[in-house]
Amino acid sequence: MSDIAVVTGASGGIGAAIAKAIHAKSEGQLTLCLHYNGNAAAAQALSNEIPNSFVVKANLSTAEGRKALLDAVLAKGTPYCLINNAGIDKPHEPALMITEAGFEKLISTNLAAPLFLMRDFAKEMARNESGVIVNISSVLARKAVIGSAVYRATKAALEALTLQFASELGPKGIRVVAVAPGFIETAMTAEIPEEQRAGIKTGVALGTFGAPEAIAETVWHAIENQYLTGAVIAVDGGMAL
Ligand SMILES: NC(=O)c1ccc[n+]([C@@H]2O[C@H](COP(=O)([O-])OP(=O)(O)OC[C@H]3O[C@@H](n4cnc5c(N)ncnc54)[C@H](OP(=O)(O)O)[C@@H]3O)[C@@H](O)[C@H]2O)c1
Repeated sequence: MSDIAVVTGASGGIGAAIAKAIHAKSEGQLTLCLHYNGNAAAAQALSNEIPNSFVVKANLSTAEGRKALLDAVLAKGTPYCLINNAGIDKPHEPALMITEAGFEKLISTNLAAPLFLMRDFAKEMARNESGVIVNISSVLARKAVIGSAVYRATKAALEALTLQFASELGPKGIRVVAVAPGFIETAMTAEIPEEQRAGIKTGVALGTFGAPEAIAETVWHAIENQYLTGAVIAVDGGMAL
């Protein structure tokens, strides 16, 4: 049985970079739980690169999926890190076109999933009085982009939960941090048309989209820095300024 770092959405761009960074920086001391939902091939390919890892499939927008992930982790060892990274940015719905279905989809995946995973994993971490949770937010928690109202609301709420959980869990030896990426080169941003990308870049002080590794580096910093909790760390190239 060993200490486990759980990365949700490890089949995606940012999640894969986070998993690789944790494996490399912890020098293999942490076993990686590589969670995925639909993209089994990506999760398995990543697992082949990381010797002490295992994959778990779960739809985290459901209570059953979240329980399946927790059970799979507990069967292998003790959770030390939970990286709430899985998320979606669609549907894009302008303010007056927001649908109940779109709202439910975004809220269940981007807010209910990390909230209840935090609650349940933190109960396990509290037994050892040791653990760290990192929630992946977004620059859009602080920025209006047409079509992103509900996405923005989920990420702003996730940041609020980060501060609340940090306050309540600190005395139990658990730290909780949020990392808020700007626009990062992954599948999520790949389909943005070139003209729109150019427009977005004019609003970024550093003038480019970021690499997933930039987010992974900061997640590792949050894991490693034992005096860091209740912070929201922007890694956005200066987009939220
Ligand atoms: N890319 C950006 O510019 C950017 C900017 C700010 C914040 N973020 C945030 O960063 C995180 C990762 O984004 P990314 O760019 O790496 O996106 P991505 O490449 O599209 O990956 C998204 C991940 O989330 C998983 N996922 C989606 N719905 C799920 C569900 N219902 N249950 C379980 N897992 C689910 C996907 O699993 P499968 O593929 O296996 O189905 C995938 O692993 C997200 O929270 C996103 O909001 C991204």
